[in-house]
Amino acid sequence: SAAEKDGYDYFMLKEIAEQPKAVADTLLGRIDAQGALHLDEVRIPAAVLREVTKVVVVACGTAYHAGMIAKYAIEHWTRIPCETELASEFRYRDPILDQRTLVIAISQSGETMDTLMALRHAREQGAKVLAICNTNGSTIPRESDAVLYTHAGPEVAVASTKAFLTQLVACYLVALYLGQVRGTKWGDEINSVVGELAHIGTEVDTVLGTMEPVRELARSLADKDTVLFLGRHVGFPVALEGALKLKELAYMHAEGFAAGELKHGPIALIEPDLPVVVVVPSPRGRSVLHDKIVSNIQEIRARGARTIVVAEEGDEAVVPYADHLIRVPATPTLLQPLVATVPLQVFACELATARGNEVDQPRNLAKSVTVE
Ligand code: AGP
Repeated sequence: SAAEKDGYDYFMLKEIAEQPKAVADTLLGRIDAQGALHLDEVRIPAAVLREVTKVVVVACGTAYHAGMIAKYAIEHWTRIPCETELASEFRYRDPILDQRTLVIAISQSGETMDTLMALRHAREQGAKVLAICNTNGSTIPRESDAVLYTHAGPEVAVASTKAFLTQLVACYLVALYLGQVRGTKWGDEINSVVGELAHIGTEVDTVLGTMEPVRELARSLADKDTVLFLGRHVGFPVALEGALKLKELAYMHAEGFAAGELKHGPIALIEPDLPVVVVVPSPRGRSVLHDKIVSNIQEIRARGARTIVVAEEGDEAVVPYADHLIRVPATPTLLQPLVATVPLQVFACELATARGNEVDQPRNLAKSVTVE
């Protein structure tokens, strides 16, 4: 009903707007005033976490994109090797797991069969499973050794938005917590990132306040067939997520690429007027990557593509090559997905509306996929 949507036309719009609160709620009570992390609810003793030799993240769809970002965070802050795998592929390749493997299963619904089968397989091999889940008491957390709940509140729209942002927060918390209990050399960086995380909800709110030009741009692209998305480092999964949203909602051909792969094939797709969204890493943190992606933008623009550039506030190097510039607040590199994904959600939602599609219930899709 209209009342349930709080005055928004679609649940998806309501859920996009709820993201600052969802993010803040997921952080609540988990970081103390001194910036120490408290995840006592994750009932895996610190002693066990100190012995972990490998982390494997399993998930599907949007949750898998959160898992891809988790890999960057976990390896950087903990130095534990981490791999992220599509839950539907995981058990079929006979993965190597033992008692010192920590498997993280990410699922909004907690009922996704592919993810459930992956975690059952992991536990049969003796691995410890930590669920990151948004639905209290659902099957995935019930069958896991431990759970860290995301506090996004109920997500009704089939296309996941607020659950994704809170999955990211939960992944950062787990990565930072593992770093904290294992006492990595990144202690100072961990402290400063924890400080930034604490007010990241405000940054998400800032992004939401600047979305009108993004909606206008989306409407102007309503008759296009294809949109490409490029990113590097954690911007790569963001590009994949932007493309997935557009497929689900606008039924358009949308593909995400790692920008470094462009020259290995996808650049052949570039043609005049093709919209290409580029997620640009901060010029501060990973400046080498920033320079490389700026040359990618130049290359595709020289071939006539219409460049839609998502870049942090103050990044002037991208300005000459951006046909459309979408600004996001400057954040530490690893946290950028929390702000950079939001314009892509708004973009897909508006494009779907402009194409006359059903936003909350896209064709052929179910909110939770309970078959393998
Ligand atoms: C996201 O927009 C999708 N509808 C879908 O990819 C979803 O993220 C995936 O099916 C996983 O669902 P889960 O988080 O409930 O396990």
